[in-house]
Amino acid sequence: MLEKIESILKEASEWSAKSAQDVENFRLAFLSKKGKLNQLFDEFKQVPNEKKREFGQELNKLKTKIEEKFSTLQEQGNESGGHSADRPDIFLPEVPDGLGALHPLTLTRRRISEIFARMGFNSEDGPEMETDWYNFTALNFPENHPAREMQDTFFIAKGKEQKDDTLLRTHTSNVQIRLMEHQKPPLRSIMIGRVYRNEAISARAHCQFHQAEGLYVDKNVSFRDLKDTLLHFAKEMFGKDTKIRLRPSYFPFTEPSAEIDISCFICKGEGCNICKKTGWVEIGGAGMVDPFVLQSSGIDPEEYTGYAFGMGIERIAMLKYDINDIRLFFDNDVRFLSQFKGA
Ligand code: DAH
Repeated sequence: MLEKIESILKEASEWSAKSAQDVENFRLAFLSKKGKLNQLFDEFKQVPNEKKREFGQELNKLKTKIEEKFSTLQEQGNESGGHSADRPDIFLPEVPDGLGALHPLTLTRRRISEIFARMGFNSEDGPEMETDWYNFTALNFPENHPAREMQDTFFIAKGKEQKDDTLLRTHTSNVQIRLMEHQKPPLRSIMIGRVYRNEAISARAHCQFHQAEGLYVDKNVSFRDLKDTLLHFAKEMFGKDTKIRLRPSYFPFTEPSAEIDISCFICKGEGCNICKKTGWVEIGGAGMVDPFVLQSSGIDPEEYTGYAFGMGIERIAMLKYDINDIRLFFDNDVRFLSQFKGA
């Protein structure tokens, strides 16, 4: 019996495995039900009682050693990927190519600034955490005026007076005031960034989104300049047959004010689901800068005029890439994001 133990131990310790199959063969030979170890344990039952102690100890040592050897073989297999060159492991995930895609909002932002840069607009930036003054009051939303109802937001801190309350900006129009405070006209800028609203999240609305704001202030800036600029932008962004329509509207900081519609580039004006059968889709608001706003930022409205506009970036991206749920932009789902490779 002792000789048998020794020879099995020798055989096991000399075993080497080059593939997962070799490891399995080892298990079958030594550790399976019909394996050598079990056979020895069967024989052990016949051993006379006075020898049981001695043989039993040796047998248990053998068992431990074989189990250790099996673990070692398994580990070696795992380190080399669990498979050999001639037997690839088909269950391993494919090696990722590692190439990501730009976020559709980034693509849209870049395209917007590029189009306006070619028309002489420089890019400017402003704070997302803003005071009531820059977000509302200086833009001619007087305290307690019902126009404030249009844009509910998240308040962060109360100032001594309402005008220094801190809040998350509801639009990028705050940057207009900050620019005009520090720059003399002529100024022509595009301001892109994130904005916030106290809105219930749904497929069409979110509590955070992005806007592109435009501002042009100089002598003799007219509504016609605004229309031409917006028309050129629409053609560059959505295709050269695109038309624009300006619908009279109200914003406290512009007079006159308008909503900007573009002709539906999906159905070409025939009427489809995107344009709700009207042939037009809204992309933002615009107007001539209200004299009060120029004045609040230290610019003489007798000498200068200006136009401004603001557009939703998600809105534009949703139209351009046919996306039907605004929440997709913020879900970080690679199945969505990877579709913009090469866009
Ligand atoms: N700030 C407006 C909004 O978020 C959009 C807007 C309208 C911006 C007219 C403008 C403008 O600059 O002139 O609803």
